[in-house]
Amino acid sequence: MYGLINMAIKQLVLDNFGESGWQKVLDEAKVKQTNFEMLTIYNDDITYKLVGGACAVTGKSAEEILKLFGAYWVKYAAGAGYEPLFKLFGPTFKECMINLNRMHEHMGAMMPGLIPPEFNLEEDIAESEIILQYKSQRKGLAPMVSGLIQALSERYEVKNLQVNQLERKESIEAERFQIKWN
Ligand code: HEM
Repeated sequence: MYGLINMAIKQLVLDNFGESGWQKVLDEAKVKQTNFEMLTIYNDDITYKLVGGACAVTGKSAEEILKLFGAYWVKYAAGAGYEPLFKLFGPTFKECMINLNRMHEHMGAMMPGLIPPEFNLEEDIAESEIILQYKSQRKGLAPMVSGLIQALSERYEVKNLQVNQLERKESIEAERFQIKWN
């Protein structure tokens, strides 16, 4: 994945546990690299190892860490200069949900080699209820999506957001989320 992702994981650890915490994460993860470049593509293995290292240091599950990271990513991306993308593709929370692919397509123009996830609206149930599908070439990152959606909803001052990951359907090759708010 692009270094930007690993940079955000590092910053999340630094914010909460400081430099010594980051060193511990690297040790547990058995990752030698301490700095990442935003526009360099690193093996996905490094990202998974960093998540594993964060689990070992905090005692939290990978699911919890990925949720926290998803939520942090929204703040981090906005602070790293991508705020206009949120405004452009998501004037409202619902439009933001519908335009997630466009957001990543836009990134792809600057980041050739980006392998973004794919989001599809499975069902537009009501003004404030949708079923969103998430497909990825990577494994195990669905909890990150819950954290991302939660943090995005807060940007829009959406109230009472509920995100439930639904059971997989055999006929659909995607993770499915029911998202409700008011
Ligand atoms: C402006 C904001 C955003 C930027 C700059 C951004 C950029 C990126 C980048 C660089 C990657 C790594 C992919 C790679 O290197 O191949 C990534 C992955 C990912 N993004 Fe975004 N993204 C943004 C917003 C979002 C939002 C709002 C969501 C979902 C609600 C999302 C969901 C994901 C997920 C789940 C991944 C993990 C990779 C995977 O599932 O295969 N992103 N994004």
